[in-house]
Amino acid sequence: MAKPKVYVTRMICDNGIKMLKDQGYDVKINPLDRVLTRKELLKNVKGIDALLCLLTDKIDGEIMDAAGKNLKIVANFAVGFDNLDLEAAKKRGIMATNTPQGSTEAVAEHAMGLLLASARRIVEADKFTRANKYKGWKPFLFIGEDVHDKTLGIIGLGRIGFAVAARALCFGLKIVYHDVVRNPEFEAKFGGKFMETSDLLKQSDFVTLHVPLMPSTRHLIGKKELALMKKSAYLINTSRGPVIDEKALVAALKKKQIAGAAIDVYEFEPKLSPGLAKLSNIILTPHIASATIETRRKMSEIAAQNIIETLSGKTPVHSLHK
Ligand code: GLV
Repeated sequence: MAKPKVYVTRMICDNGIKMLKDQGYDVKINPLDRVLTRKELLKNVKGIDALLCLLTDKIDGEIMDAAGKNLKIVANFAVGFDNLDLEAAKKRGIMATNTPQGSTEAVAEHAMGLLLASARRIVEADKFTRANKYKGWKPFLFIGEDVHDKTLGIIGLGRIGFAVAARALCFGLKIVYHDVVRNPEFEAKFGGKFMETSDLLKQSDFVTLHVPLMPSTRHLIGKKELALMKKSAYLINTSRGPVIDEKALVAALKKKQIAGAAIDVYEFEPKLSPGLAKLSNIILTPHIASATIETRRKMSEIAAQNIIETLSGKTPVHSLHK
């Protein structure tokens, strides 16, 4: 019997690759350290049984058809899956998976890092010190603000929202949250108070976003929502860029309608909206919230496991099909 063919769209940690090879699969990896062009992707998927792809690959019906009738699974190396056309996969009987548990803690750590860096002006202070501008201690040098006793608004209470709450409690933050479903267990355990998004925006000192990108969450935070936030509040985004209307964010930060923002993801990734990089009241990181070596290894293992389970006729734990 021919060996199942697996195509990996970019080099990932080798532990997952080894798992696939140990199964006797014929594993091919894009050798170029860049995202494949559409043309290259269409060509390279021909005849494969499994596709291990990244969030930078748009996988739709055309790619699935180019792969052909043997394709059984599209395994996304990410927790987010807005790059996959799930309907197209379902229609063709193709499994689709993500790597949910892999990055929960790392993303929560990055969100907290952005929150702390915003409140304590760590990025600005670092630039100042390196530029040899530090000429001695001053009472008001880089005055920031306390984090403890402030209110953190969590929008989206999935695994990552939960993990952020656990960390935030240790920093003495009070938690309020909004999600499409109320979570009594969370309320009991973390003292988190459920609120409608508009109330959460009005009451929070820090707002952190942890929703998946879907039609209902695109531009969840726009001009109207930013206007509801406190003038002293900070907005943190480690979810997906289009959850924020970036043009509205630039305008709000220019007017100092909110104190600041810290974002890891961009509406037109990897492009930044005009004016964004010129603002001093925003911290920008290049989509690295899950970028720790331990997390990348876990993601590699989970993606490989999803493929192995599917190719051995099982339904993988991380199936995205409802
Ligand atoms: C990263 O953004 C991920 O979705 O895993």
